[in-house]
Amino acid sequence: MTSPMQIAIIGASGQIGSEVARAAGAAGADVLAVNHAACDVTDVTSVERALAPLRAGDAVVNTAAFHRTDACEEAVDQALSVNALGAFNVAAAARSRGATVVYLSTDFVFDGAKRTPYVENDPPSPINVYGASKAAGEALTRAANPASYVVRVSAVFGPAGSSGKGGNFVEAMVAKARAGEAPEVVEDIVMAPTSAIDAAALLVELVRRSAPFGVYHLANAGACSWLEFTSTICTLIGAGVRPRALKASQVNGKARRPLYSVLASDRLSALGLQTRNWSAALAEYLTLKGYRTAP
Ligand SMILES: NC(=O)c1ccc[n+]([C@@H]2O[C@H](COP(=O)([O-])OP(=O)(O)OC[C@H]3O[C@@H](n4cnc5c(N)ncnc54)[C@H](OP(=O)(O)O)[C@@H]3O)[C@@H](O)[C@H]2O)c1
Repeated sequence: MTSPMQIAIIGASGQIGSEVARAAGAAGADVLAVNHAACDVTDVTSVERALAPLRAGDAVVNTAAFHRTDACEEAVDQALSVNALGAFNVAAAARSRGATVVYLSTDFVFDGAKRTPYVENDPPSPINVYGASKAAGEALTRAANPASYVVRVSAVFGPAGSSGKGGNFVEAMVAKARAGEAPEVVEDIVMAPTSAIDAAALLVELVRRSAPFGVYHLANAGACSWLEFTSTICTLIGAGVRPRALKASQVNGKARRPLYSVLASDRLSALGLQTRNWSAALAEYLTLKGYRTAP
């Protein structure tokens, strides 16, 4: 009898990593959960030690990131070290064991100049350090390991919350709305929210099927401004407050942000896969977290 495929997850306790671990286990894979304490992607020795159990045909999912966008502007070394050099280290260690690598990336590799959804073969042109470090991580992943997937997501919400960002946007808005405080959010930045649960299931499916290598966009379908996203959260949880609109130019972040970064996939449909609309995934998330009762 052949043993099941092993899927190692770097950042296994993170927002996406925890869902990938769950989805991989549900798909029958042998899950190797690798936490930050056991493996720092910037340290080759620790990466090689953590991935030593892998065999040819196994896979590594690299979710590790330094992804506080404004902090990256002032900690360029750290951003490049974790997001780019770390990506190379993981991809190279996977290759030396004959394993596939999956690198989690972001809509922030784009500049936002486009006004129709970004698809996988649009060229990256980042406008901040975080985006540049992730675009470098994508390229280094590919260079170090041809058996690689780059999986882009955006505005992620998952039950664990993002450990690097101290939670997720949905949780922050729910907390404000429940406290009777009207959230202030930008109305002129448009993106496609991503359910960590949905993206993890698709990611594992790509690996399980040995889909063609390359870039995939796994955001949920549709698009919204952060204001629309927040209004929908408030409506779905029956909050008595409505969000107030801000312009991006009124927000004092250190990093420039793309005004339009909707991710759509040209590649999933060729595999018979699709993403559902972000609002359906959001409603399910809010129900799962007990913020609303299912209709
Ligand atoms: N969250 C979003 O909205 C979003 C949007 C677009 C793209 N992404 C991408 O999606 C990926 C995962 O995001 P997420 O929301 O799941 O983030 P997360 O919850 O912060 O998870 C990242 C995980 O990586 C670990 N980690 C951080 N630095 C590490 C290092 N040097 N070596 C090894 N492990 C390290 C973290 O551990 P500790 O917490 O213990 O340090 C954490 O478990 C990232 O690559 C990010 O760039 C996220």
